[in-house]
Amino acid sequence: MTRLLTTEFEDEDGKTRTLTHDEAIVYTTVVAGAGNETTGRLIGWLGSVLAQNPDQRQALVDDPALIPGAIEEVLRYEPPGPFIARYVTQDVEYHGRTIPEGSAMMFIVGAANRDENRYPDPDRFDVRRQVGQQLTFGLGVHYCLGAALARLEGRVALEEILRRFPRWEVDWDGAELAQTSTVRGWETLPLIIG
Ligand code: HEM
Repeated sequence: MTRLLTTEFEDEDGKTRTLTHDEAIVYTTVVAGAGNETTGRLIGWLGSVLAQNPDQRQALVDDPALIPGAIEEVLRYEPPGPFIARYVTQDVEYHGRTIPEGSAMMFIVGAANRDENRYPDPDRFDVRRQVGQQLTFGLGVHYCLGAALARLEGRVALEEILRRFPRWEVDWDGAELAQTSTVRGWETLPLIIG
């Protein structure tokens, strides 16, 4: 935090300065918000998706080397951030249609991740799938700053969970999705360990 407040940089007007108090607060809030809720939701999805696919969970217990691929597949199958929005600053053409300047556009990551032209049998959860480049962390200049950390957190969490609790069931009557405008995941997901 001290370094964030004291480091000098050249701003967009060519002026050398440190971050203002407000800029430091906003930056910290973005990183804390973007970094916590998303990975928390990812771990929640690990709990539900693997309970729904016990054969795949057993494959991970038997061969933990499959875990990184399983994280990619859960990120594809249940993206914690299911959409990305943009404000259109100039007319732009997509698929033969012009989207006028001033429009709001919403890109549905959840749908792109289930595109059958990109992923064969997209509604099938498969920890051995070669997911490759996926859109769950966005694309381009705003690509997620924390993608590598999120993948690491997901992998470590799943390794530790499976080591202690190789089997669980969900009490679906008690499970509840969270109501948020940005991320999608479980508000509560009661598990029965056994
Ligand atoms: C599973 C976990 C995560 C998911 C699904 C996720 C998803 C995303 C997505 C889709 C974007 C692009 C948004 C856009 O283009 O408008 C983004 C940006 C960002 N993410 Fe993540 N994220 C995750 C974890 C993290 C973590 C752990 C951190 C930091 C510790 C983080 C920090 C950020 C920041 C700072 C940006 C803004 C980057 C920019 O605008 O240049 N995220 N994230």
